[in-house]
Amino acid sequence: MNDPHSTPETSGAGIRFEHVDVTYPNGYRGLKNVNLQIAPGEMVAVVGLSGAGKSTLVRTINGLVPITSGQITVGEFGLHGLRGARLRQLRSEVGMVFQSFNLAKRTTVLNNVLMGRLHHTSAWRTLLAAWKKDDVELAMQALERVEIVQKAYANASELSGGQQQRVAIARALAQKPKVILADEPTASLDPPTSHVVMRDLQRINTELGITVVVNLHFLDLARRYGQRLVGLRSGEIVYDGQGADADESVFESIYGRSLTAEDVLPETTAELS
Ligand SMILES: Nc1ncnc2c1ncn2[C@@H]1O[C@H](COP(=O)(O)OP(=O)(O)OP(=O)(O)O)[C@@H](O)[C@H]1O
Ligand SMILES: [Mg+2]
Repeated sequence: MNDPHSTPETSGAGIRFEHVDVTYPNGYRGLKNVNLQIAPGEMVAVVGLSGAGKSTLVRTINGLVPITSGQITVGEFGLHGLRGARLRQLRSEVGMVFQSFNLAKRTTVLNNVLMGRLHHTSAWRTLLAAWKKDDVELAMQALERVEIVQKAYANASELSGGQQQRVAIARALAQKPKVILADEPTASLDPPTSHVVMRDLQRINTELGITVVVNLHFLDLARRYGQRLVGLRSGEIVYDGQGADADESVFESIYGRSLTAEDVLPETTAELS
């Protein structure tokens, strides 16, 4: 099942930002004239200082933060003013992974992953927890893809942080999404576990062709796992290019200072137990 040479089961959606502004209700401009084009199946890392607008940017892609002007297109959806059934339809195609994992702790890993199927499940089945066999199969496949299927019947509260994040990724995968958004998915994890989670996201991108947009604090992590790097500063894109080309001067333009040892995540190849 995890054959990297198999043809992608899902294809990703393209994402286009055209002159996008976000002004929060208090008048703060979170994004300023953002123009960005992400191809279907691309993996992009977004970096920037705290407050630069990284979360704002990813949250506009599934409509969690409404845009004030401009347009964002995700696959066939235009986000400006999108609401109701169409907004729910868009959200069913966009999986989200958070820094804090956001699992339901008092139930099993499998039930958490099945929650990713809610968009596709009738209300009575949800109420009775009468999951279809196909949904359970899909959830187990998603757990297998992030190599944590052996924990399917464990309680979510028994898992380590890294394992919880892998379950959160499986939950997003069970949605059969065209896009996965990850907002600092490694910020609560130690360096070895951060690498494991980033490798999972990278594998999902290459094997399934799902478009991945991931916010990261560490530039070196972004350089390594996003082919493309977008640097944000005060709500504006100040760099958009290949990670490999992001040198010291690019670092300075994004962070407003030069690189220090604290900006580099230790190299490690350790695996989760
Ligand atoms: N709901 C809101 N109302 C007003 N201002 C907001 C709101 N959400 C975010 N902001 C402001 O918008 C700016 C960008 O915030 P955002 O959360 O996107 O930054 P970030 O790059 O994700 O930061 P961090 O690395 O700390 O997560 C910040 O100055 C923040 O204070
Ligand atoms: Mg943030």
